[in-house]
Amino acid sequence: MIQGLSALNPAGKRVLLRCDLNVPLKDGGDGRRVIADDGRIRASLPTIQELLAVGVSLVIIAHLGRPKGEARGELSLEPVAKRLAELLGQEVIFSPEITGSTVLEKINRLEIGQVLLLENIRFSPAETSKDDQARLEFAKQLAMYGDLFVSDGFGAVHRKHASVFELAHLLPHAAGKLIAAEVAVLDKLTQSPERPYGVVLGGAKVSDKIGVISNLLDKVDVLVIGGGMLFTFLAAQGKEIGKSLFEVESVDLVKELLARAEKIGVRVLLPSDIWVAPAFANDSPSLVSVDQIPSNQMGLDIGPESARAFASAIRECATVFWNGPMGVFEFPNFASGTRSVAQALSEVSGLSVVGGGDSAAAVRAMGFSDSDFGYISTGGGASLEYLEGKELPGLIALR
Ligand code: 3PG
Repeated sequence: MIQGLSALNPAGKRVLLRCDLNVPLKDGGDGRRVIADDGRIRASLPTIQELLAVGVSLVIIAHLGRPKGEARGELSLEPVAKRLAELLGQEVIFSPEITGSTVLEKINRLEIGQVLLLENIRFSPAETSKDDQARLEFAKQLAMYGDLFVSDGFGAVHRKHASVFELAHLLPHAAGKLIAAEVAVLDKLTQSPERPYGVVLGGAKVSDKIGVISNLLDKVDVLVIGGGMLFTFLAAQGKEIGKSLFEVESVDLVKELLARAEKIGVRVLLPSDIWVAPAFANDSPSLVSVDQIPSNQMGLDIGPESARAFASAIRECATVFWNGPMGVFEFPNFASGTRSVAQALSEVSGLSVVGGGDSAAAVRAMGFSDSDFGYISTGGGASLEYLEGKELPGLIALR
């Protein structure tokens, strides 16, 4: 049982809050990196606002990218502090230091109602260290910054990192509102989905999705497969896939999953047509049947006939979970499959869930808004591992 915020009595205290503020960045045109999608910052607001409303001072810990223990300017959280301040409508003090006397003094001076964001916690090698003792020692330093710990960075709960796992062992703790909401939706998807239930998977790597397919196969009515991963499915069916993405080591597992699906009567929907191109670029698209992918071409999106079939299967579902684009949506010529799936999900009258920071950023970039879907999960890897049935360190630590 994970305790929610109501289990703590935070009024008047200094609260250490772990958020997932790992936002996608893009080139701002003048050499600066700017925030491409602030969804994860906005998703962190309810917990921050609730804590501020009861009267706490707040020290926020978060990461950005994978700096591997090195301070890298382009992965600084400073732009995130600015955006958070805009969204909160109040100052967010940014601390470029993560440890040491300067940051401790700043934190000790914090007054009730004030918010401080620490620099990217992954600039400290101990945060992600494989050495349990190193992480614990680092977490002990972080624990000095607060009386209580609230964990709300759902996107990072599958990581056994100091600020996700060890810190929760050192302070009275609770889960924030985002983690509570994410877990409630994912429990619905694994335990009591309304039928018909569809799972739509895309993205490049089939190996990332095998565990989810395997764990959910007995519960779903239809499994829809697109994205780069679809070509390993086609190869498993003995089809020619040209220069398309292919994971040879996953072929046998995919064959087993297809056989299991057939045995238990789960419909597996694969594309019938594919947009192909000679190279990984937004050039020279041609449309081919899935049975006629030329050997010198690679598949970069599902075709229009497939998109229609996928959309109609999705619209029939009472519960749908979607993770991963259908094609290389960053190239306008290969974005239509992903757009069609997003559109169909937005028309589902039951529960539609978009999983993963990247998928969420993709649908927002395509002009959809969060309210078009039942729920947009902030956690890519975390939500997939949850759906795989794995125990996630950041949730174990909160029990
Ligand atoms: C994410 O982007 O999924 C989370 O912020 C976790 O990031 P990570 O995959 O680099 O641990």
